[in-house]
Amino acid sequence: MILVTGGAGFIGANFVLDWRAELDEPVVNVDKLTYAGNLGSLAALKDDPGHHFVRADIGDRETIDAVLAAHRPRAIINFAAESHVDRSIHGPAAFIDTNIVGTFALLEAARAYWSSLPEPERSRFRFVHISTDEVYGSLAPDADGFCETTPYAPNSPYSASKAASDHLVRAYHHTYGLPTLTTNCSNNYGPLQFPEKLIPLMIVNAIAGKPLPVYGDGKNVRDWLYVGDHCAAIRTVLARGAPGATYNIGSNAERTNLEVVHTLCRVLAEQRPGRDYGAQISFVRDRPGHDRRYAIDASKIHNEFGWTPRETFESGLTRTVLWYLDHTAWLQAVSSGEYHKWISLNYTGEPA
Ligand code: NAD
Ligand code: TYD
Repeated sequence: MILVTGGAGFIGANFVLDWRAELDEPVVNVDKLTYAGNLGSLAALKDDPGHHFVRADIGDRETIDAVLAAHRPRAIINFAAESHVDRSIHGPAAFIDTNIVGTFALLEAARAYWSSLPEPERSRFRFVHISTDEVYGSLAPDADGFCETTPYAPNSPYSASKAASDHLVRAYHHTYGLPTLTTNCSNNYGPLQFPEKLIPLMIVNAIAGKPLPVYGDGKNVRDWLYVGDHCAAIRTVLARGAPGATYNIGSNAERTNLEVVHTLCRVLAEQRPGRDYGAQISFVRDRPGHDRRYAIDASKIHNEFGWTPRETFESGLTRTVLWYLDHTAWLQAVSSGEYHKWISLNYTGEPA
């Protein structure tokens, strides 16, 4: 049994679905179901006795202690977080609560549980913390990609809160010996991503004939990784990672935001011809403190474990576009009143 937190969100749900498809081992999935969590993403597991869902906050120590005592997992994989930079600019408090205070509470629960385990379960236990490349800050145009020893320099409330959680995880290994592993990954894309992030937002707006809002000059660079490749990397780190270590995960797929949107318009035009999607591109006010470039040097996980992504950016993007075109019911379900409020606030500056 493994315990996954945030398993109703984008990466967590992909991880749980892939895990159940590939392995026999059961999963207990703890998620608070914020606006970003959606049980519809886990509909395929409705009749799966190996998937146990618990609606709870990672900061709710009593419930987490009870879940650990009842299910006795061999590992905790912590995806739960507030994850959207723009929301962290409008309202940072939830990021401090979940990403810092919540991770702290989860670490305390994990430490108490792990300390109580008999051998060999105690030595085998792992706490995997899922983090981001954004903790390293913004890269100069010609600088090498972030590696595991790059100093932290977070620039947004989101990345600062993730950096704080990474430091807590590191300290729990160093001080208490908790067998932690941290992964710092680049931007993910793929099925089940909430349509507030760049790629699904652009797909949804393109299909609806709405403007495609590119921040600033559109030349900010991100290193894009298909979510299924990220999930495979996490499984590898869980199975083979050295306690206390961190692993950077990325796929050498640096693209400017404008390149991403143009590629997306081309893929859409192949699948849904008849419209010039590129004509919908509209440049809008830049994000405050917008990091210019992220890129990951993933040579450690590649050299140590042979992990390498299977999808290219073009193949992954085509799969993603096809998925969104095929899953309009999922999209409708997640695009609630709360979603429309966010779109009004972020893109017109007006509360809905
Ligand atoms: P997401 O926002 O799609 O999902 C987050 C999930 O966590 C949701 O289901 C939400 O309900 C749940 N959650 C939030 N607060 C909670 C709490 N207090 N207790 C329990 N559950 C809670 O995020 P995502 O994109 O799937 O990201 C997952 C993790 O991966 C995050 O830690 C994020 O920092 C990290 N990450 C994301 C990316 C990316 O490109 N999306 C890249 C690198 C790392
Ligand atoms: P996002 O998906 O929010 O991820 P992150 O900020 O964590 O990298 O944004 C990816 C890039 O796309 C980032 O440079 C901001 C930009 N962006 C836009 O230009 N327009 C948008 O509407 C959004 C949501 C993002």
